[in-house]
Amino acid sequence: MNKTDDGFSYLSGALHCEGVPMARIAEDVGTPTYVYSRNALVNRVRRLQTALGTENACQIYFAVKACSNIHILEVLRSAGCGADIVSSGELFRASVAQIPGELVVFSGIGKTEKEISEGLKAGIHIFNVESLAELLTIERLAYAAGTKARVALRVNPNVDAKTHPYISTGLKKNKFGLAPSELREIYAHLEKLRAVNICGLSCHIGSQILNEAPFVKAWKELIKTAQEAPFDVTYLDLGGGLGIRYQREKEYSLERFGALVQKTFKGLNYKLGIEPGRSIIGPVGMLLSQLVVTKKRGSRGFYILDAGMNDLLRPALYGATHLVSLVELPKTRKFSPVDLVGPVCESSDSFQTGVRLPALKAGALLAFGNAGAYGMTMSSQYNSRPRPAEVLVDGSSYQVIRTRETYADLIQREL
Ligand code: LLP
Repeated sequence: MNKTDDGFSYLSGALHCEGVPMARIAEDVGTPTYVYSRNALVNRVRRLQTALGTENACQIYFAVKACSNIHILEVLRSAGCGADIVSSGELFRASVAQIPGELVVFSGIGKTEKEISEGLKAGIHIFNVESLAELLTIERLAYAAGTKARVALRVNPNVDAKTHPYISTGLKKNKFGLAPSELREIYAHLEKLRAVNICGLSCHIGSQILNEAPFVKAWKELIKTAQEAPFDVTYLDLGGGLGIRYQREKEYSLERFGALVQKTFKGLNYKLGIEPGRSIIGPVGMLLSQLVVTKKRGSRGFYILDAGMNDLLRPALYGATHLVSLVELPKTRKFSPVDLVGPVCESSDSFQTGVRLPALKAGALLAFGNAGAYGMTMSSQYNSRPRPAEVLVDGSSYQVIRTRETYADLIQREL
């Protein structure tokens, strides 16, 4: 597989994931189905690891929220990744995937006492702390458990990530991280802490970032805060946030990102961690779907698919575009604009308007690209639609890594 191969390509006019025709997956497993390429996933991890170099021993903690299937986590674990979690549900998944506690970082702004206790019990690497109150709770629970918690303070560097406002997290007005005054308040408590070892700082300024300026600004602020901190900072967590090419955006590659980390921290004696999600798993997953019915109103055509906003929420929530590919390349060159929509009873259940596609019949297969990140994890059963299946392809074979939900799954908790 070459350097930028993300696992999907046409062979004799048929879309394949690695060596497996997508049409075969649709036939065997049904649709809608998320399809991931194992080798492309490992390839992206390797590319990032290589680009990060060895000088600062930068550990990748995969952001589990981007794709939390335990089989995907297992692949990532065997490629050397740890996990960035934001709930004890994600901690549970990481532990089932046998990611050891010391390779888990616990982020999140509202960790409950139960979650903190579970993190302590699992012996996680570090808690990224977002408030004095949270720090004092960790201190109390760790002391009671007779253990010592490692902590990094999450700095809010007040940097504009220039991304969608819903996924921007590094500005003063955002709820995340510690502003300078909140940091000072924490510093005033340092002497009283017996069961907490504050040894690091972290930041995460947002997601789908495609240029280096916001990263550099945030990391420089992190370094400055580390140098001024009244405790020994040995570890810096640089967050996630690297974007991917959904349409024609200019990509900021894994190679450039790794080189930027190396350049920014060269000669500084910190152990580093990063928390990427989307840039690792996004491009190596597609959502496979089937055309249910077509509709024409004047000059406007609708293709209504069996995948909807409950299966892939990003277009409805963020106005995101996931480019569509036909599973069989058409023989005709006659394309006309259509609206690609889902079956859910909301007008926001639309994937793309005015896409140029050939005339298709019910049953035609289509696949949405870059759906590996925040696709399945943000799916729901809205409209009582069982969630999709997930499939992991490895060479010329594949494995169903999550079966399609059934009607029984819809009501199983409604005793
Ligand atoms: N670390 C922290 C603390 C985070 O909050 C996030 C993402 C990440 C790491 C991973 O960021 P990534 O490398 O994936 O950009 N649902 C949205 C994205 C929400 C991101 C939330 N935090 C979407 O579909 O675009």
